[in-house]
Amino acid sequence: MDQFRRNPVLWLIVLGAILVYSVLEGGLLGEKKDEQGMGGPSTLVAGVDIGGPFELVDQTGKTVTNADFAGKMMLVYFGFTYCPDICPAELLIMGQAVDLLGDKAADVVPIFITVDPKRDPPDKMKDYVAAFHPRLVGLTGNEAQVSAAAKAYRVFYRYVPEKEGGELGDDYRVDHTGYIYLMDRSGLYVAHFVHGQSAEIIAAGIKKHL
Ligand code: NI
Repeated sequence: MDQFRRNPVLWLIVLGAILVYSVLEGGLLGEKKDEQGMGGPSTLVAGVDIGGPFELVDQTGKTVTNADFAGKMMLVYFGFTYCPDICPAELLIMGQAVDLLGDKAADVVPIFITVDPKRDPPDKMKDYVAAFHPRLVGLTGNEAQVSAAAKAYRVFYRYVPEKEGGELGDDYRVDHTGYIYLMDRSGLYVAHFVHGQSAEIIAAGIKKHL
């Protein structure tokens, strides 16, 4: 242990490693729990710094920030409108989950944030979100705004050319993290739902915190 006493930097490295490990482990355990059919959101990473301030542009072209949603819970999903299957399926489930909340539904705002702002300007987002739920908010912005929001939510994404080894051009897909995040009325992280959970499980998870 002498090297630790002599070298406080070592301590920082060890603490950092423990922090990263607990975040990863939290996520993994969360998924495991879901696979076992116990359902419900994972609260194992509660308190982890996910979310926070953002400034984006909604589907009407208006600049909005996290403050515009204060007082409501948010269900947040990142994706892109060209996504062939996973994003549409998740957004459909998200809308159904909100509807299952009955008279509490108005307390929860479903939000879709694109990680492909170049191909998803506000007018495109407007048509897209309307197809899923009348109250689904579609957020886009410039690349800096979108990447800052994704970073805050620990969402990873990358552009991959459709043709292997091809140019990015306009023909690309976006690999991205696919969690639905539940945020409380002050915008703090409450839980996340992994891909493939049913609307019923998500609704039950939200109700616990409403
Ligand atoms: Ni997708």
